[in-house]
Amino acid sequence: MLNKIGLIGGGNIGGVLAQELTRRRLSKSVGLMDIKGPDLAKGKCLDIAEGTPLIGSDIECEGSKGYEVLAGAEIVINTAGVPRTKRPDGSIPTREELLATNLKITDQVADGIRQNCPDAIVISVANPLDAIVYRLYQNLQPPKSRLLGMAGALDSSRYRYFVAKAAGVSVENVEAMVLGGHGDTMVPIRSCCRIAGMPVEKFVGAEELQAIESRTRKAGGEVVGLLGVGSAFVSPALSALEMVEAIVFDKKKIIPCCVLLEGEYGVDGLFVGVPALLGSAGVEKILEVEMTDVEQEGFNRSVAAVQSTVDEVSALS
Ligand code: APR
Repeated sequence: MLNKIGLIGGGNIGGVLAQELTRRRLSKSVGLMDIKGPDLAKGKCLDIAEGTPLIGSDIECEGSKGYEVLAGAEIVINTAGVPRTKRPDGSIPTREELLATNLKITDQVADGIRQNCPDAIVISVANPLDAIVYRLYQNLQPPKSRLLGMAGALDSSRYRYFVAKAAGVSVENVEAMVLGGHGDTMVPIRSCCRIAGMPVEKFVGAEELQAIESRTRKAGGEVVGLLGVGSAFVSPALSALEMVEAIVFDKKKIIPCCVLLEGEYGVDGLFVGVPALLGSAGVEKILEVEMTDVEQEGFNRSVAAVQSTVDEVSALS
């Protein structure tokens, strides 16, 4: 059991994370920080704490508007950011304006981590994922084992769910990976998709698989469209928790994560979604997957998209 897991951002995802971490007892305490409201983080944590007698959990859940609440955390999950919403004057920020705002927030987040838990393993969830992970890297310069973005776990879970429904099998039978950047260019790796160890094509036809892969790439937007306000938050929180549990229990679990490549896949200096072996040290190994030519072309396109995001982030420094 760890001493503390820190959460930055106590909105929808941060709220589910605080609740689940308290329930799963992965650390003695949970520290949640958010700048919102009179004290949103404190309120959410008090609500969770008052329910702990009902779930038999003695985990301390502390919320605050200050980053000090993260002091001593061994793992920090970052969900801080602002979504694309109308301003009070009715105007809508452009994509670039939104990126600039979220990068400023990320700079504050990095300062908070540096001052309070500089050695923490940082799992970043906030979007735009590739841009924010890169900004954290620029600010914190951590060893590559200690900074990772959560995207592949979620994209792969979506792919697995859609495949399970199409094949008429349990979600537990489906193994799948989605690699590359976290956006329209992400690459579901069909050649790695197995149902109880058998190739997915044995269960689902090529046309349907293509539709599933296209739906996977747009799955975040599909949920946004249905909710009307906000974006998916349960499945992203569960995905981050899969990564946290792999680290806390030193599972050596292979999960697609956004990690720094230094020559792997022929890429140097970019954070890209690839299978990573997670254990108590964080990212302990990066695995190189053999892809078909079509998958490799898709992966290369995705890497190019991540590179242009990084160029944009660097221009906004
Ligand atoms: N420090 C801490 N928290 C901050 C900061 C900051 N500097 N700036 C904003 N926040 C908080 C907001 O106050 C809000 O409570 O981040 C929280 C974000 O919560 P939501 O808007 O509910 O968003 P959520 O659904 O939780 O998603 C968080 O993850 O998947 C991504 O696209 C999603 O970028 C978004 C992030």
